[in-house]
Amino acid sequence: MSSKEWEVVAIVDINQEILKKSVEKYPSLEGKTYTSLKDCLKKVKADALLNVTPPSFHKETSIIALKEGLHVLVEKPLSDTIKNAEKIVEQAEKYGRKIMVSQNYRYNRIPRTIRKIIEQGEIGKISWCILNFQKGPRFGGFRAEMPFPLLIDMSIHHFDLSRYLLGTDPVSVYAESWKPHWSWLKGDPCVFLIFDFEKDIHFNYSGSWVSVGKDTQWPGIWEIYGDKGTVIWDNQGIKKVVEGKEENIEPITLEREDRYLSLYEFYRSIIEDREPETSGKDNLKSLKMVFKSLESIKKGRKVNL
Ligand SMILES: NC(=O)c1ccc[n+]([C@@H]2O[C@H](COP(=O)([O-])OP(=O)(O)OC[C@H]3O[C@@H](n4cnc5c(N)ncnc54)[C@H](O)[C@@H]3O)[C@@H](O)[C@H]2O)c1
Repeated sequence: MSSKEWEVVAIVDINQEILKKSVEKYPSLEGKTYTSLKDCLKKVKADALLNVTPPSFHKETSIIALKEGLHVLVEKPLSDTIKNAEKIVEQAEKYGRKIMVSQNYRYNRIPRTIRKIIEQGEIGKISWCILNFQKGPRFGGFRAEMPFPLLIDMSIHHFDLSRYLLGTDPVSVYAESWKPHWSWLKGDPCVFLIFDFEKDIHFNYSGSWVSVGKDTQWPGIWEIYGDKGTVIWDNQGIKKVVEGKEENIEPITLEREDRYLSLYEFYRSIIEDREPETSGKDNLKSLKMVFKSLESIKKGRKVNL
């Protein structure tokens, strides 16, 4: 991936094999590889760290970089626990650096278009929203061992999207999880969740990571219901239904999309010295949707966020 604003000055991985393969794929990385972030930062002058380590390493690695004066763009989820995520945000504030989470799903044409439709009141006041996510990827690695792989590693994309699309934040959740008898993952890969949001909005989430028949797109299939009509986002795109009239909606055009747009937002937030759209502080609200869902599953009752 190339960027007009950013240049790769070093790549760090504790695994030599991965570094070797990266150089084979991208020969321009020759001579820029390191096996320790601390050692790298002693030798290389950098403005920012793009942190793509697994979630349990996000706190340690992000704080090393923040202490050395780098801004950090970290992959979702911000961290593996709320406490660790709060620590990263606190350290970013202490060192006066930006911490942004790569919630790339919302940086796309379709969610940006739906947000606009809702903000302009085209489907009226929203009352409820339904999301269905079904996929069955055959993961190995850390995901295969996680206790709640969908909820911990994937649902954060949908939760962040829900806050973005609905333009408001959740206040409570009731959650259930289970493991179908054919599941190839160790933890519970299926969930039903009911969130209450501010402004009396209700969000119904059903997700599975071991679906063998029906597959949805990665962002899932969304239906948002207001007092004037409905917006549907499915594998075909956006549909708006008002007074029984169904209309296909052409998404707005964007100069940049997805990770290109989130990288650009990261850059702009530094240049303009402002909070990035998906700052660590903002992202704590999306991350709480994950951990409060877990709490609800364990307690077997609705919990406040
Ligand atoms: N936004 C998205 O759509 C998206 C997609 C895939 C993965 N992710 C996220 O990206 C992150 C990484 O996921 P992945 O699937 O690429 O994981 P991975 O295990 O394939 O790769 C992570 C790499 O980090 C290295 N590493 C571990 N600890 C390190 C440390 N302390 N210092 C340097 N390197 C270290 C590992 O050796 C490994 O090569 C996760 O947070 C994941 O949720 C996001």
